[in-house]
Formats: sequence, C-alpha cells, structure tokens
Amino acid sequence: MEASDVLPLTALDAYACWELNRRCFADHETYDLATFRLLLDSPDSVSYQSLDAGRRLVGFLVGLVDRAPGRGRGRLLGSGHIIAVGVAPEARRQGHARRLLAVAEQGFRRRGVAIVHLEVHAANAAAYRLYASAGYSVTQRLTRYYADGDDALKMVKSLLGG
Ligand SMILES: CC(C)(COP(=O)(O)OP(=O)(O)OC[C@H]1O[C@@H](n2cnc3c(N)ncnc32)[C@H](O)[C@@H]1OP(=O)(O)O)[C@@H](O)C(=O)NCCC(=O)NCCS
Repeated sequence: MEASDVLPLTALDAYACWELNRRCFADHETYDLATFRLLLDSPDSVSYQSLDAGRRLVGFLVGLVDRAPGRGRGRLLGSGHIIAVGVAPEARRQGHARRLLAVAEQGFRRRGVAIVHLEVHAANAAAYRLYASAGYSVTQRLTRYYADGDDALKMVKSLLGG
C-alpha cells in the first residue's frame, strides 16, 4: 500500500471535508457545509483528497474551472481557481499539500486550463511558501480581501509548457 494517496473529492465527501476544513482553519473565516456541497457537486469541480497510510482523510484541495458569468453555464475561460487547501495539523510537513497541488494541476490541464490562480492570506507564511515553491507568483495584493479586514495575495501559475 502507498504511504499516502490522492483521490478525487466528490460531494459524497463534503461532510468529512468540511469537518477537516474546520480543524485546518480554526482561527480564520471559512466555508460552511452548504458551500462545500455546492462546490464539490459542481461539474466544474477539480477537487482532491489526500489519505494517509491508514486511509484517513488528512488533506483536501477544492478547485473549480472558471466560466464566464451569466445565466446557465458560461463559456470556459481557460483558467482555474484553487479555492481551498487544508491539511490536518497532525499530518503537516509530510508533502500532502504539495501532492494535492500537483494532482490538481494535472486535473486542470485535462480540463483545458492554462493558468491557475488563488488567493492566500498575506500573513500565511506556510501557504505562501507552499505555493511559491510550487511555482506560483504574486501578481497583486488584494487590500482588505477578507471579512476581518486582512489582505490577500493573488498568486498565479501558468500550466503551459509544464
Ligand atoms: C499550508 C498547508 C496546506 C501546507 O500543508 P502541508 O501538507 O503541511 O504542506 P507540505 O508538507 O506539502 O509542504 C510543502 C512545502 O510548503 C512549505 N511549507 C509548508 N508548511 C510550511 C511551514 N509551516 N513553514 C514554512 N514552509 C512551509 C515548504 O516549502 C514545504 O516544503 P518542505 O517541507 O520540503 O520544506 C497547511 O499548513 C495547512 O493546512 N494550513 C492551514 C490551512 C491553510 O493555511 N491553507 C492554505 C490556505 S490558502
């Protein structure tokens, strides 16, 4: 058996994912269960879970391919959004997030995505280093992006040529 495994994350996993999410973001605003269900149920979801050697859920990544706004399903924009990433406190620094990102990028590529973007809390050094080491670059500081008034950094990575 593999020491860890990355598998697709579906609406059936929404409750477990939401519970893990609450542990990951104990001090920050986060998504509610209904939002997880909605995101994971979307045909545009590019989302994965990471299991440890005991097959326990220890990490998740929720992503969506971007569509033009409007009624119905707008046209695909060729970009993808990483909406949430979390790894259980007891399973950190074991490469779960790095593997989730790599598998999600493959998933985005299969959906025709050329560029991936995300927002990270400006004070979140661990997440910033994770994304920077995976090839994401800061393109913008989003002032007062979060409800508590904190700033976010917008980071992007091109999937072309990789
Ligand atoms: C950020 C988070 C997802 C990282 O998950 P992880 O599985 O521990 O990360 P990985 O083990 O894959 O680490 C990959 C790289 O990220 C960087 N990194 C991860 N955690 C770090 C930390 N605490 N301090 C500094 N760098 C860190 C390192 O470069 C690391 O590579 P290395 O271990 O070879 O040095 C995890 O800490 C977490 O869930 N935090 C709370 C939720 C959160 O902030 N999510 C991101 C929101 S945008």
